[in-house]
Amino acid sequence: MRPPPVAAYLGAMARNSPNFVCQTCGNVTSKWSGRCEVCGEWNSIVEEAPVSAGPAGKTLGGGRGRSAKLTDLSHPEAPPPRTSCGMDELDRVLGGGLVPGSAILVGGDPGIGKSTLLLQAAAAFADAGLKVIYASGEEASAQVRMRAQRLGLQQAPVKLANETNLRDILATLEEERPALTIIDSIQTMWADNVSSAPGSVGQVRAAAHELTTFAKARGCSVIMVGHVTKDGQLAGPRVVEHMVDTVLYFEGERGHQFRILRSVKNRFGPADEIGVFEMTGAGLHEVTNPSALFLSERGAPAPGSVVFSGIEGTRPVLVEFQALVAPTPQAQPRRTVVGWDGGRLAMILAVLEARCGIPFAGLDVYLNVAGGMKVSEPAADLAVAAALLSAREDVALPPETVVFGEISLSGALRPVGQTENRLKEAQKLGFTTAILPRGGTAKGAGMSLTEMPDLATVVGEVFGAG
Ligand code: TYD
Ligand code: MG
Repeated sequence: MRPPPVAAYLGAMARNSPNFVCQTCGNVTSKWSGRCEVCGEWNSIVEEAPVSAGPAGKTLGGGRGRSAKLTDLSHPEAPPPRTSCGMDELDRVLGGGLVPGSAILVGGDPGIGKSTLLLQAAAAFADAGLKVIYASGEEASAQVRMRAQRLGLQQAPVKLANETNLRDILATLEEERPALTIIDSIQTMWADNVSSAPGSVGQVRAAAHELTTFAKARGCSVIMVGHVTKDGQLAGPRVVEHMVDTVLYFEGERGHQFRILRSVKNRFGPADEIGVFEMTGAGLHEVTNPSALFLSERGAPAPGSVVFSGIEGTRPVLVEFQALVAPTPQAQPRRTVVGWDGGRLAMILAVLEARCGIPFAGLDVYLNVAGGMKVSEPAADLAVAAALLSAREDVALPPETVVFGEISLSGALRPVGQTENRLKEAQKLGFTTAILPRGGTAKGAGMSLTEMPDLATVVGEVFGAG
């Protein structure tokens, strides 16, 4: 059967009034229900105004558009001009400074320090010569001023707006023409042409769309703060992440002072770049040597502690994996992970059991990345396995040892990228030995290398088990 023409589809959408939209996945239905049948989320469905069929009821299929101007790929294009704010950790995550007309979304848990970071960024960009407007819908201007005083930024030439009406904000921007606008937060913005409540999918989508379009049309960069849901995703429709040029997450543990700004998408630079900050009584301080910081709390060599030489974006970062393995009377032993993927831990436990004869049945397993860092590289597999073995066998690795390498399901070890950089960083921090997969191309760089073909060899030769 042929699919119905676009006109019929839009016509049907228009007739389906009102629409019910899931606030989690954006699915549209014609009747309300307690649970979204697409994503399974409860109490997420909200009534929204229906989509109209375009101006004067005309559909898109009528051939009345103008044809677009086409260009060649060979057209010479200069790299975009960038403005550095002087906070190196922020500039790097942005890909080397702020690109004019770019739209940036910054997500993070409540209270993690987004408003603090962006107020400091606003002041830094203003000091670098940009005209900056900070629009807060979350806090009154007095609160923002108080924070500025606490941060010692009261003299910075940043203009404040306490406004949530999008139409008024756009009118202000049109008149003032700032080079950078900060919107804290996108969930508090309210477009009066969309009938649903502030914070709903429809409103967030409309606000993000208007602001992104304004940014592109006027060459004014916009940084929007976005809230995250309880499972750590940016709240609101996924489409907002597609709309903007750059998506950054501000992460960290509330109890820890370290904060990591991570780019998960960047049209103007490498993704997965991180900037490391420390939250102090006087705001966020940049951490220029994160490896030293993440290892600073490491005590005497203890079983279960292993240092991993990782790569975050373009730079190497050393972090400590800590494992604890303890007998349990429970039929279903615990597997608790902080800072690493739970599924990947299960895989490594299975490989240890099936390929190396090291069972973990009847044992609780706890795995933690020190300092509140999140690691997602498969290169950490071998460090995780070593931490688990070290905890289980009660054998501490020599203190000046770093570990990295990917583990395959067969138990073989696979060389990983940027071995040279990983070794160099480790050597810089006083490490002398590395345990890594055999078959890489790296030279020692002055370190003694223990190259292993598979996990079973590590179990036998390093831990004397198996
Ligand atoms: P905030 O920037 O308001 O977080 P968000 O906008 O992500 O919700 O930061 C709130 C926390 O940061 C608050 O618990 C206090 C702490 N904080 C400091 O420790 N030092 C400071 O200088 C500032 C301004 C905040
Ligand atoms: Mg805030």
